[in-house]
Amino acid sequence: MRILITGGSGFVGKPLCARLHERGHELLVVSRNPERARGALPPRTNVRPSVADFVDSQPEAIINLAGESIAEGRWTEAKKQRLLDSRLTITQALVDLCGQLETPPKVMVSASAMGYYGDQGDREVTEETPPNPEFVHELCARWEETARQAESHGVRVALMRIGLVLDRDGGTLAKLLTPFRLGLGGPLGSGKQYMPWIHRTDLVRIILFLLDQEALAGPFNAGAPEPVTNAEFTRTLARHLHRPAFLPAPAPALRLAFGEMSRILLTGARMRPQRLQEAGFTFEYPTLDEALSEILRKR
Ligand SMILES: NC(=O)c1ccc[n+]([C@@H]2O[C@H](COP(=O)([O-])OP(=O)(O)OC[C@H]3O[C@@H](n4cnc5c(N)ncnc54)[C@H](OP(=O)(O)O)[C@@H]3O)[C@@H](O)[C@H]2O)c1
Repeated sequence: MRILITGGSGFVGKPLCARLHERGHELLVVSRNPERARGALPPRTNVRPSVADFVDSQPEAIINLAGESIAEGRWTEAKKQRLLDSRLTITQALVDLCGQLETPPKVMVSASAMGYYGDQGDREVTEETPPNPEFVHELCARWEETARQAESHGVRVALMRIGLVLDRDGGTLAKLLTPFRLGLGGPLGSGKQYMPWIHRTDLVRIILFLLDQEALAGPFNAGAPEPVTNAEFTRTLARHLHRPAFLPAPAPALRLAFGEMSRILLTGARMRPQRLQEAGFTFEYPTLDEALSEILRKR
């Protein structure tokens, strides 16, 4: 299949492209820096700077992962605008491309995030749970609504509400390893907030599953079946690294340091992958223990 991918150069995109290449797919990748992206992608990947550059390439499927990192830096008004623009502009370009193609792609698998639900305390969250209105919800809702416009061109749209993606060489875990190794880790705020997480290998498997399963459309919670609280996450990571993790980061200090962005550290959702499990998807790493054992074994 000829597959168009945005964000193919990223933390999730790179291993995804490697898997798609192994399966014999032809890859078309959109990157702001094609030269750099080519170096990180499988041989013969066609990399171009914009979605519109692929108007003559007839992609049969789309995977949409591009977006500026949410968990970095303070959310100034300018940063919030970049978070929105970096997702909505490229997603809208994909929808426009679907409208221009003689034969539209069969499917678009598009990223969203657990932030769709906003702060949910400790209630169980499935795809039907009403969201809490706040900035991350608005960001994810507008991102999803834009992607869903492709449905009007006959494209099946599957949306992934992704939890914290774990692997060794990037994402949040890579940033946590050094302080935890130095014994400087600890819970954030009360530690009671839920942190839905997913092993990167399972997220890549979910993307392949959603591409293949022709009956699946709409939102899917892409987090492991056993989400943990921040305190459990902290304890488990410290145990795997054989280090103590006593140093809490108090909520007021995080609010002072990160402003509104601290909400994604101090609040969360006990998100369950109900629709994926109903559809028969099985997780290779269902528990945090299994995920961290595999990740920390790797060199
Ligand atoms: N990683 C997580 O824990 C997590 C959790 C929930 C949701 N997600 C979502 O899942 C998607 C993939 O995650 P990821 O960790 O692989 O993301 P990533 O590595 O941070 O970024 C993916 C790609 O997005 C493009 N990008 C970055 N900033 C951009 C900007 N300002 N404007 C346009 N494009 C930009 C970059 O591609 P080029 O430089 O090649 O253009 C980058 O390689 C993201 O949309 C993310 O929000 C991730």
